[in-house]
Amino acid sequence: MSSVKVECVVKASALIGEGPVWEESEQILLFVDIAGSRIHKWSPATNQIQSVETGDMVGFAVPRQSGGYVAGVGRSVVAVDWSTQTMTSLLEVDEDKPNNRLNDGKVDPIGRLLAGTMGIEEHPAQVQRKQGSLFSVTSDLTVTKHLSQVDISNGLDWSLDQKTFFYIDSLSLTVDAFDYDSNTGNLGNRRVVYRMEEGEGLPDGMTVDAEGRLWVACYNGGRVINIDSTTGVRLQTVSLPVTKTTSCCFGGPDYSDLYVTSASLGLDQSESRQQPLAGDTFRVRGLGVKGRPSNSFTG
Ligand code: BGC
Ligand code: CA
Repeated sequence: MSSVKVECVVKASALIGEGPVWEESEQILLFVDIAGSRIHKWSPATNQIQSVETGDMVGFAVPRQSGGYVAGVGRSVVAVDWSTQTMTSLLEVDEDKPNNRLNDGKVDPIGRLLAGTMGIEEHPAQVQRKQGSLFSVTSDLTVTKHLSQVDISNGLDWSLDQKTFFYIDSLSLTVDAFDYDSNTGNLGNRRVVYRMEEGEGLPDGMTVDAEGRLWVACYNGGRVINIDSTTGVRLQTVSLPVTKTTSCCFGGPDYSDLYVTSASLGLDQSESRQQPLAGDTFRVRGLGVKGRPSNSFTG
């Protein structure tokens, strides 16, 4: 067995650190602070953080093939020009639900963006239920709504053969799978892959590794769990020194480092004292498994 090492690498002090993405071309980690309304870039080589303010809650930021990023700000999908720190709205979702906001988003293996929404969150993880949706956006900016009545649209990723889409609606306390048609983006045959156990909290962000297994960040569970996506068996648990672990991705020169983001929002005074690293980003080494490169939006 390899020995697993967890270290706090980015002193981000985020309210809700989220959506880590490894950017291979720049060898940096991109992530957001949702409630802090910021997109951050962190370089392991220099240990510098660069940030852009989004002016409203930002659910995700992903690389765009034509340069810059695409981010989910409020209900808008925006193009972000990092060098000028400017944002241009490309489209809006959930026009009929003005209080919704975008949450997790990710690009599929052919360059299509999938992103979900959620209703008003009165307290962390307490939302007006069934208000959210899941959308896809193609390169010509055509928006398709795939799911409605979602509570908190969260983690998403694809199987190695691209035929399965893994998805988390956090309040269902399950990790689900759909059949995925990468030509049309259509979803079918929803089923449960994994049901959270006592102490694991809510399933939040997730990533699929190079062997097709799931790594799921457990919000209020202080851990990332590794699940065999075909059997639904939990293979491993990685504990972190914070309870609100929110999302994860593999990165580093050979994709063998697992980066894990966390939140501080919602901790009471004594919890904050016990978790001085809440809101920071962690690196897990020694897992003996690698991840896959992230995809860029083609639009
Ligand atoms: C959301 C938070 C929510 C958390 C737990 C995150 O993805 O952005 O607002 O509290 O998931 O479900
Ligand atoms: Ca999330």
